[in-house]
Amino acid sequence: MINIALPKGRLGERVYDLFEKAGFECSDMRDRGRKLIFENEDKGVRYFWVKPSDVPVYVERGVADLGIAGKDILLERKPEVYELLDLKLGNCRMCVAAMEDFYDDGEKTLRVATEFKNIASAYYRKQGRDIDIIKLHGSVELAPILGLSDVIVDIVETGTTLVENNLVITEEILPISARLISNKANFKFKTAEIKRIISLIKEQVEEGDK
Ligand code: PRP
Repeated sequence: MINIALPKGRLGERVYDLFEKAGFECSDMRDRGRKLIFENEDKGVRYFWVKPSDVPVYVERGVADLGIAGKDILLERKPEVYELLDLKLGNCRMCVAAMEDFYDDGEKTLRVATEFKNIASAYYRKQGRDIDIIKLHGSVELAPILGLSDVIVDIVETGTTLVENNLVITEEILPISARLISNKANFKFKTAEIKRIISLIKEQVEEGDK
């Protein structure tokens, strides 16, 4: 049995579509109510629906052999897992954004509000820029509006959230997408099964690229 941690939400649904098309369907998955665990014994898969940011925890600790996590979470947390495949889903960008009229004179310490403390720190460290990190857990767009920070470092997908809050992208840090990850020890014990899943999923990812 291969245990797979799926991120709850829109991305998870699309990831499950991929697994279903690859032949790892599970009955009742579509109309699942509040149930969190699903299993298809014949196909040898068991799915858990977990909070997206918790996926690396389940995988790192080995209760899930495989999981799907955003590159943002992987870069931020640096979990001890293997990154096996770019699923090319949930594509977005990690960006710096500010109020339209913000002027950065480059001399002052920059106040940066973000959920991604490590990504933001590493980015500004490379530039030799002094920053004051303000760690938030959501709605970071509020910070520059209320004067809590000068800029934000956050994920931009469609750009709607920024536009609706009069913020603009000032720098792009890196592209983000969903990645298939595995527990390191479990990969050794279940290499054949995991490799088979990777190759079938890869076919579906390439099909989606066409
Ligand atoms: C993310 C991100 C932005 C928004 C960007 O938030 O933090 O707020 O999506 O998407 P857009 O460019 O398509 O508008 P999410 O909805 O994941 O919630 P969060 O604020 O709790 O992180």
